[in-house]
Amino acid sequence: MDLTATGLAPLHTALRRLYDEDYALFHRLFAGGRAPLQPALDTVAGLLAERGLAERDGGELRAAVRFHRLGDDLLATDHPGYTGRDRVLYLSDNESLLLARNLPDCTGRRVLDVGAGSGVQAVAARRRGAAAVTSIDISPRAVAMTRFNLALNGLPADDVHLVGLADFTAAAPFDIVVNNPPFVPVPPGTPFMTSGAGGLDGLDFVRLLVDRLPDLLHERGELHLTTLSPGGRHVSEVELLLLGLAGDRPYRLRVREVFGRPCPIAESLAPFKGHADLDAWQAELAERGYTHMHNLLIALTPAAAPAFERSVLTPAVELHPGNKGSTTWDGLHAEIRLALESAR
Ligand SMILES: C[S@@+](CC[C@H](N)C(=O)[O-])C[C@H]1O[C@@H](n2cnc3c(N)ncnc32)[C@H](O)[C@@H]1O
Repeated sequence: MDLTATGLAPLHTALRRLYDEDYALFHRLFAGGRAPLQPALDTVAGLLAERGLAERDGGELRAAVRFHRLGDDLLATDHPGYTGRDRVLYLSDNESLLLARNLPDCTGRRVLDVGAGSGVQAVAARRRGAAAVTSIDISPRAVAMTRFNLALNGLPADDVHLVGLADFTAAAPFDIVVNNPPFVPVPPGTPFMTSGAGGLDGLDFVRLLVDRLPDLLHERGELHLTTLSPGGRHVSEVELLLLGLAGDRPYRLRVREVFGRPCPIAESLAPFKGHADLDAWQAELAERGYTHMHNLLIALTPAAAPAFERSVLTPAVELHPGNKGSTTWDGLHAEIRLALESAR
């Protein structure tokens, strides 16, 4: 697959034309993964095949990537058939797209996109007027996909870096940090995608992020985060971590509980049945005070006085083709089961 981030204008035009003129065909090709070859596909098939992003197979065109639509932009992610641990995740309505759609006005501000994946947050921040967006990811495949997607949409693609969060240093702190971390609780030794594996309680990456924020975020800067977090029934661990981080500074912590309710922890661990001793795992989490799993959309922003707001939110389902959404806990657990299967 050639993800070189140059010369992509003809592909963008062809994809948009296909989308506008034959939405059903676009959907079939990129959500279903294959479509019968026909004149409407001629241009796009040629451009995709040149880069190994699709191949002709008998009378069909098979897509090797999935294209999603976000506003006027198109974003490639890995096809579900790709089983590498470095799979670049599709854009889900309850996380990636939810965060992207809820980014603040970034006009004139410097944004850090942590764990860029497909680059969806970088594209969204640019569209909200960011003066500069730096993207980092530990995965070479994600870095290539981010550069590709920025260039595909005519955006600067040179500030994308292959570096882990622990090792990243910046010349100056950022005005906005955006992150959708690997947050799935995964017991040690269980193979899982790099984009999802968050350690025993799912918080390995988030703890690192909270540690790094004082260096990376301007004192009056903002954090926008979507994550799963274990916790009690009413408050999650990540909220406590962020309240601790804000300390005495006047910050507003705005938390939205996605899916409307937290999930009892036993249900959250159930997708790992057969991969781990669920009782022992649950007991270990209970010792830490974790009885529920929360799916959260979080904004930590400067305020005149400290504030903590909590509300519930049901994610909108985006009907653009190629977008796959979880709008319930069951849907999210089904996706975790699939990820486990493909990581074997
Ligand atoms: C859940 S995906 C989010 C992708 C994208 N930002 C989005 O919103 O769809 C998490 C990303 O974090 C990256 N990642 C995992 N560990 C990392 C680390 N230590 N430093 C930087 N990125 C990391 C993964 O490779 C993956 O691309």
